[in-house]
Amino acid sequence: MIQQKARVLWNRRISNDYYKLGLSCGGYETAAPGQFVMVQIQGQNAPLLRRPFSIHALLAPENSEAGIEILYKIVGSGTRRLSEVREDQTMDLLGPLGNSFLLPPPGPRIFLVGGGIGVPPLVFLAKALRSNGIDMSRCHMFLGGRSRADLLCRETFLDIGMQLHITTDDGSDGAQCLITDPVEQAAADMSPDIIYACGPLPMLACLVGISRAKSIRCQVSIEAMMACGIGACLGCAVSKAGNADGYWHVCKDGPVFEADQVDI
Ligand code: FES
Repeated sequence: MIQQKARVLWNRRISNDYYKLGLSCGGYETAAPGQFVMVQIQGQNAPLLRRPFSIHALLAPENSEAGIEILYKIVGSGTRRLSEVREDQTMDLLGPLGNSFLLPPPGPRIFLVGGGIGVPPLVFLAKALRSNGIDMSRCHMFLGGRSRADLLCRETFLDIGMQLHITTDDGSDGAQCLITDPVEQAAADMSPDIIYACGPLPMLACLVGISRAKSIRCQVSIEAMMACGIGACLGCAVSKAGNADGYWHVCKDGPVFEADQVDI
């Protein structure tokens, strides 16, 4: 974990309220899919608290400067302020933080399930799976959003060679249903070896239920409110599964958990 001043390489609007932020920073060469950073805007009127963002991509030094890319959505005043940050400004960056998805050995049938702004770390994961020699034609990406405008990175998943399944809440693209509906159907038809997921808590809770019912290994990356990101404020607690007493801290023990570790 490194705290540093990171220089903004770009902060581009990619659609509606979605932006990609490129940061020049060191120490991320071994960062892994699922890990996150805490970002704080510098300057007057900047929000006091750092904000957590999952790592969307590692920047290759041969193409740009070493660093990371974050994909975020404007959801409030803090992220709106973030969208106004300009190239060459500096930001306070803490990371890489948290654990990561555990990659399987080559061969298995894999489901990735992403809802809304939970999709960005799954792009990092899909690229890591491909780099690890996984046959991506056996990998299925289940991509859900409120509407077509909220379906992130679909072209990237297709370029990686994954089979894509789309749902939207309003029916503007793909099937009009919850993304967990086609996952449940496909899990029955194809018996995946592992499910990786990131998205809203109800989606993750449903997937945990599906994975337990069908005895499929499942890793979920949980999004939580985070004030510190390092286990100091106890603000990101999630209940341990079963009869285990106590809580996990998403920032320190996660954000990635096996489905049988958490009660969500
Ligand atoms: Fe402070 Fe997790 S964010 S303990």
